[in-house]
Amino acid sequence: MNLAIIGTGYVGLTTGTCFAEVGHNVICVDNNAAKVESLRRGQIPIYEPDLEDLILSNVSAGRLSFTTSMAEAVAACDIIFIAVPTPPNEDGSVDLSYMEAVSHEIADCLRPEYGYRVVVDKSTVPVSTGTKVSQVIYRYAYEGVEVDVVSNPEFLREGSAVADLLHPDRIVIGADSQRAMDMMKRVYQPFNAPILEVDLHSAELIKHAANSFLALKISYINAVSAVCEKAGADVELVAQGIGMDKRISRNFLNAGLGYGGSCFPKDVKGFINISEQLGTPMEILREVERINASQLERFLNRVREKLWVLRNKKVAVWGLAFKQNTDDVRESVAIKLIRRLCDEGAHVTAYDPKASETAAAVLKGYKVDIVDDMYDCVADAEVLIVATEWKQFAVADLVRVRELMKLPILFDGRNIIHGENAIHAGFEYHSVGRRSLYPQA
Ligand SMILES: NC(=O)c1ccc[n+]([C@@H]2O[C@H](COP(=O)([O-])OP(=O)(O)OC[C@H]3O[C@@H](n4cnc5c(N)ncnc54)[C@H](O)[C@@H]3O)[C@@H](O)[C@H]2O)c1
Repeated sequence: MNLAIIGTGYVGLTTGTCFAEVGHNVICVDNNAAKVESLRRGQIPIYEPDLEDLILSNVSAGRLSFTTSMAEAVAACDIIFIAVPTPPNEDGSVDLSYMEAVSHEIADCLRPEYGYRVVVDKSTVPVSTGTKVSQVIYRYAYEGVEVDVVSNPEFLREGSAVADLLHPDRIVIGADSQRAMDMMKRVYQPFNAPILEVDLHSAELIKHAANSFLALKISYINAVSAVCEKAGADVELVAQGIGMDKRISRNFLNAGLGYGGSCFPKDVKGFINISEQLGTPMEILREVERINASQLERFLNRVREKLWVLRNKKVAVWGLAFKQNTDDVRESVAIKLIRRLCDEGAHVTAYDPKASETAAAVLKGYKVDIVDDMYDCVADAEVLIVATEWKQFAVADLVRVRELMKLPILFDGRNIIHGENAIHAGFEYHSVGRRSLYPQA
């Protein structure tokens, strides 16, 4: 099938590439001309495991191309996916101006002679957005165009997006027209995954409800971690014990510095906002947000307790991305942590395997040294903080790290370092929801 993807970011680029990989002809559209140019040159603007090879092979097979021209894509493609940003407004509501602009542009490009078209919302949006997209298209398009709007929320996780797209747990299609539903099922037929067919509004709500539930699970174990710290229990053992119950599962029960990223914070806010607008407030999600914010504060208090005054202290931070295997720093807790440390006068040196450039852009104005080597990062540091769960931090040579640092203090904000290894290397080891460990005298 001929598919257009409007918005060639983390979601649009990986989705378009995976559609091409299973045999569809895909045109990716973006209004960022520099991005389109670099993609045409074979330079991939984001880091996502396995993505680059797939893009290059599908471009050479002639199934994947990039353009700034919406008109070209709308003329050529039966199905037009929208994957543009839906960031939060100041008041927590979702900024739908990108969705509106793209709907309007699609309308301008549609012609009755093209025949039937399906417009698919892949961006994460509040319930009822699809109806508005449809209204905008019919308001501005030529008379006689025939369009249905469908919701097909995306559940990929950055860092494993290609695998998630090629082998999804489920595909949700929300359509109020059988014709549109049948076309969408043809798109996904090669993926061999369970398809849940629902109405438009339910599909939109599934995405907000799913992400909010995952955020809730993270905040739940983080709240438990605070109790563990006071009670002298071990949150990792508690999570294991809870997670062995199949009804609960161990996934997303990782205590740490809290959730970040471009999705959970904004989607929780978006769900709170739309539920309030509908007169059925999801109060529970306010508590999820409160716990998430307090997790970083509690952690910072413990660092302060250890170092007393942060001014002029040399702090090494491992991790800048909001999670491992990505260069994305949007709403990254590591970035928030670094800003707080800088505000208090600490001298911060940071390292991340993939996110140095993206982090430097959001840390402009902060005095942070971002270095290219995780061992250079710790030289002369008085404390090392692990802020992102990259695997290479978990298997670091801690004896070497200890030798390079001025003081042997390690704060593990992601509980990824083996505490026994840390104390054998001579560190005092502080983690989340567990007792601190000290080297034997
Ligand atoms: N990133 C994720 O992990 C993830 C997962 C699931 C769902 N989502 C949702 O998918 C949507 C997109 O997220 P993202 O992370 O890919 O965003 P992104 O910022 O990485 O990419 C969006 C792209 O849209 C382009 N764009 C904006 N306006 C445009 C226009 N008028 N015409 C053409 N292109 C335009 C931008 O230039 C950018 O390249 C959001 O609603 C997000 O909530 C994201």
